[in-house]
Amino acid sequence: MSLATELNETVNIQTGEQNSSYPVVTGTYNEKGITIDKLRDTTGYVTLDVGFKNTGSTESTITFIDGEAGILEHSGYRIEELASKSSFEEVMWLLLHGELPSEAELAGFSKQLKAHRALPVGVKGILDALPDQTHPMGMLAVVLNSLSGFYPAYDDSWKSEEVKWNTIYTLLANMPGITAYIYRRSQKLPYIDADPSLGYVENFLHMMFGKVDERVVEALDRLLILHADHEQNCSASTVRFVGSSRVNLFAAVAAGSNALWGPLHGGANQAVLEMLEAIQLDGGNVDKYIAKAKDKADPFRLMGFGHRVYKNFDPRAAVIKKYVDQVLDTLEKEDPVVDIAKGLEREALKDEYFSSRKLFPNVDFYSGIIYRALGIPVSLFTVMFALGRMPGWIAQWKEMRQNGEPIGRPRQIYTGAATRAYVPMSER
Ligand code: ACO
Repeated sequence: MSLATELNETVNIQTGEQNSSYPVVTGTYNEKGITIDKLRDTTGYVTLDVGFKNTGSTESTITFIDGEAGILEHSGYRIEELASKSSFEEVMWLLLHGELPSEAELAGFSKQLKAHRALPVGVKGILDALPDQTHPMGMLAVVLNSLSGFYPAYDDSWKSEEVKWNTIYTLLANMPGITAYIYRRSQKLPYIDADPSLGYVENFLHMMFGKVDERVVEALDRLLILHADHEQNCSASTVRFVGSSRVNLFAAVAAGSNALWGPLHGGANQAVLEMLEAIQLDGGNVDKYIAKAKDKADPFRLMGFGHRVYKNFDPRAAVIKKYVDQVLDTLEKEDPVVDIAKGLEREALKDEYFSSRKLFPNVDFYSGIIYRALGIPVSLFTVMFALGRMPGWIAQWKEMRQNGEPIGRPRQIYTGAATRAYVPMSER
């Protein structure tokens, strides 16, 4: 089902002697796309775009990004406004429904999330069985996959409205408990049961630390909002892609969590803090690391810098940056890596290498400093990202299923050996 408007405009493609034309569609902000699904049938050609640098994989109503202007919106609401005026529960609803909830809708949603909170006992057993050195993201993926076994009634997640929403509530409601269990297991602390009187973020903090500091609630709520969705990034595209095979939602988001784990994506928040700590241990010489990042012979990259889409600034980073000092002040904490981070940013922004490549701090550059101030260990940072991103993944999956998108199956240009005679073992 096409959502975009077809324009009275076509693009002609000349292939050899043949001239064929393709419709142009436009979105809300007049961004234009050439529809090329018939290109191969008509001409025998495919398009080649390794890494999807210029390929729209879908039409979507959930999130809009203008990377040149540094704009991020969910259903028309600017991220800066959502982060300062909404709660994470409201933003979850917005992503899932396309509208901000009324008071009654929000209350109903909170009630559902509370009702689905209990973590299956077997999930704890699975986590306990994993080796201690398993990365928290590895643990998360195992658990998300296992949920289809604990909730067999939701295996066909698109079976009915009731099944669909119960699957969604279960996933969202289980995420804080899973994250808290992973954390408490790593600290060899006993699990804390959910408290039905608490909201989503408060309850998460209660399950993590056994106490709820209101100052931390506000900071965390804001961070989760900033991570809630980011259109067709690596993990969201993975969720849509895997989900397009019509596998259950648990398996699709497990795949998304694996995509998020990588240091070029969500794993960057852990990598940033480790980088800042390494620089601190090495004497805090910012210039040395700027030089390393610019040196093509050195594999070192400035983690938390650069973005595939943002070529001006990442609006989420701008919000977080303003927030770092405020959070540290409120919590009466100091972190020596803050000065290193600010120094790196200052030097990079005036350096031609970074400005010519449009490399700016992304959401992960400062988020780790806040997570750490909130008492969250570095190895759990990417799971925290997943906690925030879960509603986005679910919204992307839901939209993909709603629109009846076909199974994702890209083409390729084959560059391997041409047909040749089979070589028997004795002749190899
Ligand atoms: N440090 C130093 N140089 C960089 C960096 C960096 N962080 N990022 C990009 N570059 C350079 C590349 O070496 C390349 O230089 P060249 O043109 O001379 O070869 C140029 O900038 C373009 O980089 P690409 O890797 O081609 O850009 P791409 O859009 O594919 O990658 C990415 C974007 C993955 C985010 C990249 O900037 C990066 O690796 N950043 C560090 C990891 C990071 O912070 N990831 C989190 C992203 S946000 C998120 O997922 C939530």
